[in-house]
Amino acid sequence: MTFYVTTPIYYANSLPHLGHLYTMIVADTVARSKRQEGIETFFLTGTDEHGINIERAAQKNNRTPKEQADYVVSYFTRMTAAFGLDTAHGGYDIFMRTTNPFHYEGVSELWRRVAKSKTPKGRDALYKGHYEGWFCAACAGYKSEDEYAPPTTPGDPPSCLVHDTKLDRISEESYFFRLSDYDEALLNLYESRPDFVRPEARRNEVKSFVAGGLQDLSVSRLKTSVSWGVPVPDDPNHTMYVWFDALTNYITAIGFGNEERERIAGFEKFWPALHLVGKDILRFHAVYWPAFLMAAGIEQPRGIFAHGMWLDPNGRKMSKTLGNTVELDVLNKYFPIDAIRYFCLREMVFGADGRFGYESLIDRTNSDLASGLGNLSSRTLTMIQRYCEGRIPDGAISDESRLATKRAGVEDESAISDFVSHARDEFLRYFDEFAFSRALEEAWGIVARVDKMISEAKPWDLAKDAKQRETLNAVLYRAAESLRWLSVLLYPVMPNASREIYRQLGLSGEAATTQPSELTWGGLKAGTQTGEITPLFPRIDKAKTMEEIKSSESGGRSQEREEQRLEVRDKSSEPPAVAGGSTEGSGQRATEADAVPGVAYIDITDFAKIDLRVGEVKTAERIPKADKLLLITVDIGEEKPRQILAGIAQYYEPEKLIGRKIVVVSNLKPRKLRGYESQGMLLAASVGDEGKPVIATFAEEVPNGARLK
Ligand code: MSP
Repeated sequence: MTFYVTTPIYYANSLPHLGHLYTMIVADTVARSKRQEGIETFFLTGTDEHGINIERAAQKNNRTPKEQADYVVSYFTRMTAAFGLDTAHGGYDIFMRTTNPFHYEGVSELWRRVAKSKTPKGRDALYKGHYEGWFCAACAGYKSEDEYAPPTTPGDPPSCLVHDTKLDRISEESYFFRLSDYDEALLNLYESRPDFVRPEARRNEVKSFVAGGLQDLSVSRLKTSVSWGVPVPDDPNHTMYVWFDALTNYITAIGFGNEERERIAGFEKFWPALHLVGKDILRFHAVYWPAFLMAAGIEQPRGIFAHGMWLDPNGRKMSKTLGNTVELDVLNKYFPIDAIRYFCLREMVFGADGRFGYESLIDRTNSDLASGLGNLSSRTLTMIQRYCEGRIPDGAISDESRLATKRAGVEDESAISDFVSHARDEFLRYFDEFAFSRALEEAWGIVARVDKMISEAKPWDLAKDAKQRETLNAVLYRAAESLRWLSVLLYPVMPNASREIYRQLGLSGEAATTQPSELTWGGLKAGTQTGEITPLFPRIDKAKTMEEIKSSESGGRSQEREEQRLEVRDKSSEPPAVAGGSTEGSGQRATEADAVPGVAYIDITDFAKIDLRVGEVKTAERIPKADKLLLITVDIGEEKPRQILAGIAQYYEPEKLIGRKIVVVSNLKPRKLRGYESQGMLLAASVGDEGKPVIATFAEEVPNGARLK
């Protein structure tokens, strides 16, 4: 038996955050639990590297698309190693990249197969036509009317509801996949395999989407519009639609269309896969992908499980666009890996949305891990050291001692062993249903039960009475044996803590390869020498850590901000571009944002540092011997108008500016240029290759000095 689990492959245009890490943690947990059961398992994660989005991010950063992808991938691989998710730490088996040559081979093979096939209704699955529609570059998809917001200014394009960015009108020759012919076949699939799409609420959504009728899918773009992609076989004027390319990674990674990969991994051996995805990309996985596979005559995936979204503590989806993401390097710096894994699986009911806040992560780490599991482990082992010379005691109660044990109020061994094995069964049942949060509750039920047993039996009192020696030994044995069970159960979720408990108990085997379903009570051998005791989860000082996190966030110490700063610096040495009078000859790009690379985002706190004000141009004049600069004075609601130098002289007549409302960066450090002090900067768009400035202005009445937020 084999098992294959996948995460989505992540867009290589921006650096990953907690939302991305999460699916990897879940997939890693699932993979470890399968391996623990002795099942040969393949775990895929990786990056989605083609498409206009990556092309644009690359352009913005003066990189080639491949360089852009390489840059993001190097961050990804460093990050996965830091979180123990890479191959070296027993995590993924492949970090898949859609720029791998073997992927090109496999995806071309899939295309050819689809191109040759007939739909269930007997027509060609692929045909050439013309497509016209609104396309969102960030979503890499066309948007239907209910998926975009109409423009605020008539004549402008509508905006994407997800990204709030302008859509592109696309009209071009395109290959179409005849998805409309697959509705019945798909509905049959959902009907005949009720757990194909999970959870059930999501399955129902998918079903009603398909039942509502499907439209054919444009699966290629002209190379002239999107050049960064896999060429369509036998028609190199076309590039494959990124989702056709990306979804196919799940089979090319294991050998579809490439013999060498087949030898290394094995399509025959591992397919079909279980796909773990965020609910936002379920449609692609549960509708398009099964239809492509049907057309190519390939077996359907084992299933698709859609998880919810991580929200910030205020309930907003965590996303780069909103700037409320949890930075991976901050997480990595302040929290043990296992605490992050535990929190992710415990806090988010798999399938539903969950909230993430550093404070709750600290609280859970301290209560469930430091005071809960960690404390149980250290108190048990410390008592074994103190009362039993560090050796696991024999837990058996002789007939003679039975009465003494009863008198001490200590229950029969079966009471605790039955409890623990029932909790194990429940744990495994929930785990199988991806109900990780419930499974962990069961495990913590064991922690609480054993803690209670210890508190009630009071080993420290038993130790004072020689007649209670066996009772004392029995209590400590039961606690230690329960810990052994816990370390096996918890291995997939907390591999490091589990390994540590194993070591401290003095066990020679490995929790990683011990099947939880085969655990039998009494497996821990009396006389085993326990190991050195070290705390599993040191308590986190909440106030201090929160303080540090806050200052590291606003100080921009994260990897990504380092990059951003670097980029901003690099840009400042570029040749003069457009408006903005605070540097010589407007040698600075019009806006800060322009200098920010595609991969970097700022926090709202960073943005709040920029004081943008509405200003009214009072005077404007040319400066002798500076053909690019205008000297303007602007009323931004202060006592006196500000004097600003702007590099717009080649494009704006000074007198036409008078009376205009503009946007001024009012807290930019004043600078002297050509003997004049510039006390701010005006904002303008930079258009075209020559960077023609177009001054930002307002369509409605606004008072001078109003702040832009
Ligand atoms: N490249 C495509 C997937 C192609 S799979 C063949 C893609 N990439 S992505 O980088 O935008 O997103 C990858 C995954 O991250 C998605 O499953 C998405 O749901 C997940 N998440 C992004 N933000 C998230 C949260 N805030 N919370 C949980 N998951 C989130 O889509």
